[in-house]
Amino acid sequence: MIHPVLRWPDPILAKITPQACVDAATLALTRDMLETMYAANGRGLAAPQIGVLARVFVMDAAWKSGDPAPEVFINPEILWRSPQMASGPEGCLSIPGVVAEVMRHSELVLQWQMADGSLQAQKLTGFRAICAQHEIDHLDGIVTLDHLTPEARAAAIAVLG
Ligand code: NI
Repeated sequence: MIHPVLRWPDPILAKITPQACVDAATLALTRDMLETMYAANGRGLAAPQIGVLARVFVMDAAWKSGDPAPEVFINPEILWRSPQMASGPEGCLSIPGVVAEVMRHSELVLQWQMADGSLQAQKLTGFRAICAQHEIDHLDGIVTLDHLTPEARAAAIAVLG
C-alpha cells in the first residue's frame, strides 16, 4: 500500500525512533515502504517518513539506472565509519524541491537485521553509504537541513516557500 510521505517540518520527522521487532507487521511495513519509495520516485525511505516510529529503512540504489535492487534494513547500526568524508548534494522525499550539500563518511560498515531476524554486516560504499547515512539520520530525527549552516538552512527553507 502506498502511503503519503510526511513533509518537513512534521514533528514526527524530529523524533528518535525506537528499535523495531522483526515480525509480520514490520515485514508488511517494509513492503509498503518500498512501494511508497518507488511511487515517490525515490531511492531511499525511512519508516518515520510514513509516520511509523520503527528503526527501518529501505533503499534501491540501482532502479533508476537499471534493474530494481530493493534492500531492507531493520535496526541498522553503523559499526565503522571511514575517516574520509565528502560533501555532495542530497534531496529528500520529505523536503521536496530542496537540494542540500551534506558532508558524509565515504564508506561504512553497517550491521542490520534481515527479514528472518538474522544479523547481516556489510561494507557500504558510494551511493549506498551516503543513502544509508541519510536514512539513519531520519531514524534519529535528523534531516538534511540540520546539517547546514544557519545561512544555508535559511536559504533552503526560503525555497520551500
Ligand atoms: Ni530523506
